[in-house]
Amino acid sequence: MTTGPDPLPRIALVTHSAAPSGAELFVLRVARAAHRMHPVVIVGEDGPLVAMLRAHDIETVVVPLATSVRNRTARSGLRSAMRAATGTTRAVRSLAKTLTGLRIDVVTTHSAKAHVYAAVAARLAGIAVVAHVHDVATGEHLSRMNGSVLRTALNVAPHHHVANSALTRSSLTGRARRAAVVGCPADIGVVRHAPDDTPLEFGMFGRVTSWKGQAIAIEAFALALADGLPEDARLRIVGGALFDEDAAYAAALREQVAALGMQDRVVFRGHVADVAAELSACHVVVHASLRPEPFGQVVVEAMAAGRAVIAADAGGPAEVVDHDRTGLLASPGDPRALADMMLRTADPDTRSRLGTAARAEAERYRPERIAEELEREYLSVLAR
Ligand code: GLC
Repeated sequence: MTTGPDPLPRIALVTHSAAPSGAELFVLRVARAAHRMHPVVIVGEDGPLVAMLRAHDIETVVVPLATSVRNRTARSGLRSAMRAATGTTRAVRSLAKTLTGLRIDVVTTHSAKAHVYAAVAARLAGIAVVAHVHDVATGEHLSRMNGSVLRTALNVAPHHHVANSALTRSSLTGRARRAAVVGCPADIGVVRHAPDDTPLEFGMFGRVTSWKGQAIAIEAFALALADGLPEDARLRIVGGALFDEDAAYAAALREQVAALGMQDRVVFRGHVADVAAELSACHVVVHASLRPEPFGQVVVEAMAAGRAVIAADAGGPAEVVDHDRTGLLASPGDPRALADMMLRTADPDTRSRLGTAARAEAERYRPERIAEELEREYLSVLAR
């Protein structure tokens, strides 16, 4: 049997991490929704993302990064940078070879490390590069050195840039600042209507880590209960502590709940595979990130599910949510402001008005639609 050549351009999506966090889930969703490109996902380590991609029959290749590179954090110092440099040189060479072998037409990079090593590998292999930036490239979460290496790399290597929000784009410098802004797909599976016969349930979705603001949500929930939220209302916290540094925070949240005597009101669900089932049980979805969220996929997912959302008034969610029309916005880090919005959603008519408008707005983030926009951006470098 002979098979013809693959007619679709082969687009590599590269991320160094296999943890199922925001940008990695984005890669999976876009790979699933793509029609005009053949996606090949390249991951720097084996892990949950790799299994998820393969379960969806997406061509996936692991090109391991040296441990010295993989485990380098935003705050690692110069000595570890030197060690990482040797590891990076090796990773770059092996990735360049892999890209050539896989007949990749365009390389897209999706994580800070990938913006550096995968972009260099692509240039070495003579392949066009698009940097798709998912995180703000300035700020306290990046050390000074890492921030400047990242911003410089983003400026010199890629042929084109995409940013997930205007906020993300505004953190870039030079050429990268001309990035096209394309949002993320809202891919939620089958979510049932919010149940009418169950107590009011707030849901919070995402990695359990301090900047996601679960502690603020718990505090706000306690304030709202004291101020007249139905007594049987509940807060469901969905998500796991994905990285070691988050375990202490997860433990502190449980202590906070116990100290408030709310063990029967706040439920920790941990990391779940079936997000749609969790979403189905919630009437209101809360997003409370303390630092401006670059995009915030959970917000558009909740909107697509027709839920009333309350989001932190900053970054991506503030670009997406029209306050009091398609959702509610509350000042980040302010439990009182969040409690006030929670109290507003106790009214079923308000929830249904916000949820209906949210669902209509979320049409813009349908996976096929976003994939089409991205295909246009990614493939634009081939025409140059
Ligand atoms: C990163 C950002 C998040 C965004 C995701 C997909 O994880 O922190 O806000 O939703 O990338 O672009």
